[in-house]
Amino acid sequence: MGVLEHIDPEVAAIIAREEGRQRWGLGMMASENHVSAAVLEALGSVLTNKYAEGYPGARYYGGCRHMDEVESLAIRRAKELFGAEHANVQPHSGADANMAAYFALMEPGDVALGMRLDQGGHLTHGHRVSVTSKVWRFFHYGVERETERIDYDQMRQLAKEHRPKVIVVGASSYPRIIDFAKAREIADEVGAYLMVDMAHIAGLVAAGLHPSPVPYAHVVTSTTHKTLRGPRSAFILCRQELAEKIDRAVFPGLQGGPHMHVVAAKAVCFWEAMQPSFRRYQERVVENARTLAEELAREGLRLVTGGTDNHMVLVDLTPKGITGKEAEKALDEVGIYCNKNAIPYDPRPPAVTSGIRLGTPGLTSRGMGPDEMRQIAHLIVQVLEHMGDEEVMDEVRQQVRELAGAFPLPGVSDRAS
Ligand SMILES: Cc1ncc(COP(=O)(O)O)c(C=O)c1O
Repeated sequence: MGVLEHIDPEVAAIIAREEGRQRWGLGMMASENHVSAAVLEALGSVLTNKYAEGYPGARYYGGCRHMDEVESLAIRRAKELFGAEHANVQPHSGADANMAAYFALMEPGDVALGMRLDQGGHLTHGHRVSVTSKVWRFFHYGVERETERIDYDQMRQLAKEHRPKVIVVGASSYPRIIDFAKAREIADEVGAYLMVDMAHIAGLVAAGLHPSPVPYAHVVTSTTHKTLRGPRSAFILCRQELAEKIDRAVFPGLQGGPHMHVVAAKAVCFWEAMQPSFRRYQERVVENARTLAEELAREGLRLVTGGTDNHMVLVDLTPKGITGKEAEKALDEVGIYCNKNAIPYDPRPPAVTSGIRLGTPGLTSRGMGPDEMRQIAHLIVQVLEHMGDEEVMDEVRQQVRELAGAFPLPGVSDRAS
């Protein structure tokens, strides 16, 4: 019996149930992953006990020598991994990293340009329900109706019209390569900063499977928990001349004490991402996404942009006559986890949507490959074509359980062995 089970059986039981859900299901959230035992160990360490407001060598608390060591190590690794001049590893989350970058680059009331949430962007790229749109004046570009790819002409036109201080590029649901060089060209034409939010693709960038934004962007923000497969957290990269502004925006501008156990886990994840096995893992992530896309299309589903270049697949369910909400629920009931997602020019509201977003980072971390992707594509189509047919659902549920059970859960299974 573990300590937690003994001290607080209620919480221990909830964690055990969630472990079971992950173990016996297929986690296909494009934004999630399964971390290693090493990352979990750092997260569960005594570093959570320590306050370390400030930065290495300049703290507001005593006893920070080992905090300085671990944060300096994380910074060094982040810089090396992405070839950046400066790294701040303290942001608690992607949203915080974006807020800090905006605060560093703009004054309240300044104009910014971001990607529409309902065409692939993120809430923190100036959506009206986000505080980012209350502090700064955001305008939005989207994707072309025909190709469903980023409309760089529209980006340029809006940039010329509104003269933003910052152009934000990066997406939550966009399955294609982003042209950072073109975005920088546009930013230069209007004298704007280019900020790239690479949260989703950071792992692919680290492995060289998506062009890096670092040579083009003034500031790069990222989460660490999606394709990068680290703890739930974030970091910021920038040119040396912006380093002080970025650091001051994170602390004392926005945050208090850094979460040092998470900083340590970020250092571990950066180290893991430097290993040759990580490149092979990312190659498999992309290959799996491509196979999944091909198979879903072969079985008659319409994919946004017709396919994928990265780790995600966006399915337009309109031709099937079902909503994203209905599909998410039906798939959830058989143990396939994904999220409802707006498709470009979606007539349905965000809580309903006409699409689903699928991702391969998690399944690939469990060791699944193209054969499993083909099998899963078939299971997904079975569910979507037989919604409400309990016999089919039972059959799929059983197959999902068998498939998931054959692939260990990283981190947890490692730790047990
Ligand atoms: C592109 C992008 N930026 C930022 C975020 C926010 O990250 P977090 O949930 O860690 O605040 C997300 C999360 O989904 C994202 O997809």
